Amino acid sequence: MNVLVTGGAGYIGSHTCVELLESGYGVVVIDNLCNSNAESLNRVQKLTGKTLKFYEGDVRDEALLRKIFAENEIGCVIHFAGLKAVGESVAIPWKYYDNNLNSTLVLTKVMEEVGMKNIIFSSSATVYTADNEMPLRETSRTGGCTNPYGWTKYMTEQILSGMAFADKEWGIVLLRYFNPIGAHESGDIGEDPRGIPNNLMPYITQVAVGRREFLSVYGNDYDTHDGTGVRDYIHVVDLAKGHVAAVKYVDEHKGCEVFNLGTGTGYSVLDMVKAFNEANGLELPYKIVDRRPGDIATCYADPAKSAEVLGWKAEKNLMDMCRDSWNWQRKNPAGYGK
Ligand code: NAD
Ligand code: UD1
Repeated sequence: MNVLVTGGAGYIGSHTCVELLESGYGVVVIDNLCNSNAESLNRVQKLTGKTLKFYEGDVRDEALLRKIFAENEIGCVIHFAGLKAVGESVAIPWKYYDNNLNSTLVLTKVMEEVGMKNIIFSSSATVYTADNEMPLRETSRTGGCTNPYGWTKYMTEQILSGMAFADKEWGIVLLRYFNPIGAHESGDIGEDPRGIPNNLMPYITQVAVGRREFLSVYGNDYDTHDGTGVRDYIHVVDLAKGHVAAVKYVDEHKGCEVFNLGTGTGYSVLDMVKAFNEANGLELPYKIVDRRPGDIATCYADPAKSAEVLGWKAEKNLMDMCRDSWNWQRKNPAGYGK
C-alpha cells in the first residue's frame, strides 16, 4: 500500500517515512519545505536503502493534490503538514488558521472526490483542558485552548469527527502526541528547528553544542516533585511506529477514533537536565527563571487505549531519548544546514 505523507520532510514526518518504508509501505510525500529541508528525505532514503516519491508543494494546492492522487494509488494519508510554533500563532493567528485548517479542508475535499477516505491526523495533548486529572485519557475534557495553534488542533479534530459521523465511509484516526524528542539512532535525521527553539530538548542540545549559553528553566515553584514542569516525553521513533500501527488500524476500521501517543510517565525539567548529563557525560549550564506564560505544571498520558486497540506501546526510555537527541545534534551541529 502507498501512504501519502503530508509534511513528510519535517521532524516527525521524516521518522515516520523511515518506519513506513521499513514496514514495506510505499511512501509519497508532499511538503512545501516551509519548516524543513529536502535533505531529510535524501537521508531517509539513504538510511532505508529505499526510495520514496517527493512532491514539493502546498497541501492547500488542490490541483497538485489531484495530480498526486492521479499519479499514485494511495491507500491512506498521514496528515502532518501544519505550522506548530505556539508563540507565532499568537502573533499571527490568521496564518495558523489558514494553513492548518485549509490544508485539512482541501486535502479531505480531494480525498472525498477520489473516494480514498482513510486519514491519520497529527493532533496534540494541547487539546486537553488544563483542569483535567492526570493521567490524561482520550475521554478527558478538551477545548479551552490558550493559543491559536491549539485551537487549530481542536477545530481540526471537530471537523474530522463531524465528517466521520456524517459519512460512514471515512476511517479517521486522531493521534494526540505528548512531547516528542529524540532522533533516529543513526543520528542522520532529527529535529532541526528554525531560529531559537521553543521546546525543551532542542534548546538543551543547542546549549550542549555551544549555540546557546545556558538553559532557562521556566519556574521552579510548580506543584511537582522538584518544582519544575512535568511532561510526558516520547521518543520520536516510538511515535513514528505508532503511525504505522494507525495505518494498519484505519485500513480495517471505519469511523473516527482518538488515541494518546505518550509513555504514561512524566519527567520534570530538572529530571531531563540530569538524564541528559548522565546519558552523554556532560554538565549542562542552566538558570532558573520566571514561569513561561501559558505553561501548566504537569501533563502526562494514559496510553492504555493505544496499547489495547492499536497494539502499540512506547519502548524507548529516557536515556535512549537523551542519547539520540545529542547524537543527532553532535553529528549535525547546524542541523540540515550542514
Ligand atoms: P515540522 O514543522 O518539523 O513538520 C511539519 C512539516 O509540514 C514541515 O516539513 C513543513 O514544511 C510542512 N508544512 C507545513 N505547512 C504545509 C503546507 N501547507 N503544505 C505542505 N507542507 C507544509 O513539525 P513536526 O514536529 O514534525 O510536527 C508534525 C505535526 O505534528 C504538525 O502538525 C504538528 O503540529 C504536530 N505536533 C507536533 C508536536 C511536536 O512537539 N513536534 C506535538 C504535537 C503535534
Ligand atoms: C509546548 C507548547 C504546546 C505544544 C508542545 C509541543 C507552550 C506554552 N506549549 O508544550 O502547545 O503542543 O510544546 O510542541 O509553548 N522549558 C524550559 N525551558 C525551555 C523550554 C521549555 O524550562 O527553554 C520547560 C517548559 O516550561 C515545560 C517543559 O520544559 O515545563 C517542556 O516544554 P516544551 O518542550 O516547550 O513543551 P510543552 O510546554 O509541553
